[in-house]
Amino acid sequence: MTSKRNIEEEEEEDIISQEEDNNSGSTQQKKKKKKVVKKTKPQPLTKHANSSHNQPVPKPTNLVPKKKAEVREININDIGANELSNQDHRVEADGVLAGLISPTTLDEFYDNHFGVKELVVKRNGNNPYKSFFTKDSLDKMLRNNFLKFTENVDVTNYIDGERITLNPDGRAYPSLVWKHYKEGCSVRLLNPQTFNSNVWKVCAALQTHFQCGMGANIYLTPAGAQGFAPHYDDVDVLILQLEGKKEWRLYKPRNEGETLPKASSENFAQDEIGEPYMSVTLEAGDFMYFPRGIIHQAVSPKDVHSLHITISTYLNNTWGDLVGKVLQRALDVANQECIDFRQGLPRDYTKCLGVINSDDVGNERRKELLDKVSVLWDKLGQYLSVDDGADQMALKYLLDSLPPFLNQAEKKHSIEDEPNAFSVNLNNRIRLIRSDSIRLVIEDIAVVYHNMDNTRVFHQVGDAPGTIEFSLDCAVAVEHIINSYPNYIYIKDLPVDTDDQKLDIASAFYEKGLIMIEK
Ligand SMILES: [Fe+2]
Repeated sequence: MTSKRNIEEEEEEDIISQEEDNNSGSTQQKKKKKKVVKKTKPQPLTKHANSSHNQPVPKPTNLVPKKKAEVREININDIGANELSNQDHRVEADGVLAGLISPTTLDEFYDNHFGVKELVVKRNGNNPYKSFFTKDSLDKMLRNNFLKFTENVDVTNYIDGERITLNPDGRAYPSLVWKHYKEGCSVRLLNPQTFNSNVWKVCAALQTHFQCGMGANIYLTPAGAQGFAPHYDDVDVLILQLEGKKEWRLYKPRNEGETLPKASSENFAQDEIGEPYMSVTLEAGDFMYFPRGIIHQAVSPKDVHSLHITISTYLNNTWGDLVGKVLQRALDVANQECIDFRQGLPRDYTKCLGVINSDDVGNERRKELLDKVSVLWDKLGQYLSVDDGADQMALKYLLDSLPPFLNQAEKKHSIEDEPNAFSVNLNNRIRLIRSDSIRLVIEDIAVVYHNMDNTRVFHQVGDAPGTIEFSLDCAVAVEHIINSYPNYIYIKDLPVDTDDQKLDIASAFYEKGLIMIEK
């Protein structure tokens, strides 16, 4: 775990206010229990959880044109500070990826590259990442924070076909890191989004675009050095060359089983990977994408160092993962609801089943046991719910996600504006601060899962996202808030019976930082 004191000083205020918010929730919030284990039969998300609310949902006020916005390219240095930032975060997020891959369009990217093959964008000396993160930023990060070797920083080398990690114990003092760098080592920052706001901003925007958790590593390599052995990763990567140059060699997956793999490879020897299908030198300002499974290695040229950031995504975000969630959820419910699944195994199953007995086709007892399993398979099928599995995947995304990066205007209109925090009233107009910071799941009650309690340290918050619980008759009002994004709506228009309920719902959202109030 990384403590709060590790956070860069200039950013510490943000983190503290966020954590104070987490720790000092109202009595009402403290009563809310985290609830992740599902104990009930899956129920569809519904607008009709309570039939007493069949009145039409009031239309939100249109502050943003209904027509689909054009994708506008956003420079990563302008995230949170462009005209889309305060309109619709989803459109801004699309613009961030569009800016990275330009002049390739998002359609071309998804048609021809994503999950299929690399994309290289050369910018011929024009560096749109200038000032995003520099060698000086790295030095500042080391000086202003308590970074530790292995946890936050690696110093590595690759000599004579072998990768060597030279991490000492303890704190990564700047002088120690630079000593290793001068001796030819590469420096890898393992979770720079925790300590640097620019990295946090771009990862938070891209997670909204991909609807998947993002990771980041920053690599500084001295001239003429290679830090890592050839390997492939279990994530898709976006590589931004920030300073200097790096020569990359890419190799096709060696077989179908290593195409879009679920796990990263070990380090390969050069004679295990064949010839590269592509070699390219990335210069400052260039961009490269390649999917998980592409074997790669990179070396900096003899005359210049290299600084690049690798932003990664799509870890365990596959159809197989969705099906796995559907199956696991179905089994959880079957175990709960059907005694057949809870009955004990017969003692002789070890003698009749198993690979060693698989040829014993004439064994009647074996046949009897196999028939029993077939019956259970059929019963399990009755509990399969794709929507329920999708909710589980969405909750995993919330848990994996970074908290949103808020600009000054957003802070001013939310609970982050601590000195001016106020009670909501029926005539306030509200909107979600981020549409993808929240997921409504219907259990015995309506549960709003959110990522506002997340920290910038991966999974530091625990094994479940934050929650707010409501009675089922509030579900329609919660959905109304969600579906109205990015428009503001009046609290008095929330479709629940009483004014107290309307204020309770709005207050619960406000106190968790989930909504902005028009002032
Ligand atoms: Fe890699």
